[in-house]
Amino acid sequence: MSNSRTQVAIIGAGPSGLLLGALLHKAGIEHVIIERQSPDYVLSRIRAGILEQVSVDLLHEAGVGDGVSQGGTIHHSIELVFKNTRHPIEVTKLTDGKVVTAYGQTEVTHDLMKQRQRLGLDTVYSAADVSLHDFDSASPQVRYVKDGVSHVLHCDFIAGCDGFHGVARASVPKEAITEYEKVYPFGWLGVLADVPPVSSHAIVYANSDRGFALCSMRSMTRSRYYVQCPLSDKVEDWSDQRFWDELRKRLDPDMAERMITGASIEKSIAPLRSFVAEPMRFGRLFLAGDAAHIVPPTGAKGLNLAASDVKYLSSALIEYFNERSPVGIDHYSQRALARVWRAERFSWWLTTLMHRFPDSAGFGQKMQEAELDYLVHSQALSTSLAENYVGLPLNFAS
Ligand code: APR
Ligand code: PHB
Repeated sequence: MSNSRTQVAIIGAGPSGLLLGALLHKAGIEHVIIERQSPDYVLSRIRAGILEQVSVDLLHEAGVGDGVSQGGTIHHSIELVFKNTRHPIEVTKLTDGKVVTAYGQTEVTHDLMKQRQRLGLDTVYSAADVSLHDFDSASPQVRYVKDGVSHVLHCDFIAGCDGFHGVARASVPKEAITEYEKVYPFGWLGVLADVPPVSSHAIVYANSDRGFALCSMRSMTRSRYYVQCPLSDKVEDWSDQRFWDELRKRLDPDMAERMITGASIEKSIAPLRSFVAEPMRFGRLFLAGDAAHIVPPTGAKGLNLAASDVKYLSSALIEYFNERSPVGIDHYSQRALARVWRAERFSWWLTTLMHRFPDSAGFGQKMQEAELDYLVHSQALSTSLAENYVGLPLNFAS
């Protein structure tokens, strides 16, 4: 049994854990990241691709802003397609100049991993049997097995950045946590392809009578597309050709015509859910990112909420260690949840507006059409969409 000590034990080397580690290191706070998968496995996961300005600023604060500056694509608008017509929503004009940046989570993760390696920071990959202990005391510890050797990491705090299926939230006594969940009756079939995006400066969201579709990008030569599909579908049910044909049928004729297709380099089906665990702090254990909440990907909020959680948590831990003040850590859960619930609302609203629901034909369908028609003709509702899409400020009245 090997014993070691650090100030903050971070569980998970996804965007949350890596970003938290970078910010703690910059403030001179010792930490260790414990990750159950290999680095290649973590990098192989294809996830989101739109960053709020808050997230871009955080990458610069963490010292990894060069990647997004050089490889990111600034977007000033989004496009809504319904009834075969495309409607731009000028998010930048509607928010006095705010933008979003198209830059993949894989690239964010890669940038943060590369920095960790360059700085020689302590990251334990392929850690098995990770368990959390005594986080309701002043002496929490994380135990894990690495290459057959058992380790005990003594620490002051544990940051559960281990995602929806992680061990951190699962270690909290059931009576101490409240979970809120909504599972949607469909999935998203996503395709990554090395073809130029059909829309390089605006994400396209389509509500068609065949279901939802989304046109996004990772760069000027790599596109990311999605179509809503039944939860019963399997990836093997969808050839590339079937995917491209279906995507075209859900877009307006001009965009369908201009679509450049090619072989998929990644193809997967993901379920959609809204989920929040309250609170996000349990003694010396804090939850951040997907460990605490999940949003349907429609509003592109997952990665951005992970970033804002990490901003709040890193500031709180830095205040504790460097100013010996518990104020930040005592307010972390309440502060993070205020922004989480606003993003949950927006993601639920956009998902409900843009997808075909099995039980909402007829009247429900007419409500969607009426709201979309109102949205594209109302400055007020367009502004509401825009200010949520670019990301609410980190500090807002709640
Ligand atoms: N022990 C150690 N590591 C674990 C454990 C465990 N028991 N369980 C999970 N992990 C690791 C996973 O292997 C993963 O690398 O924790 C990491 C969690 O990363 P994410 O799931 O990406 O969560 P997060 O870092 O909060 O990032 C949120 O990722 O899933 C997307 O849409 C989501 O964009 C959002 C972002
Ligand atoms: C993506 O690029 O994966 C993406 C973009 C916008 C969304 C969801 C996903 O709303």
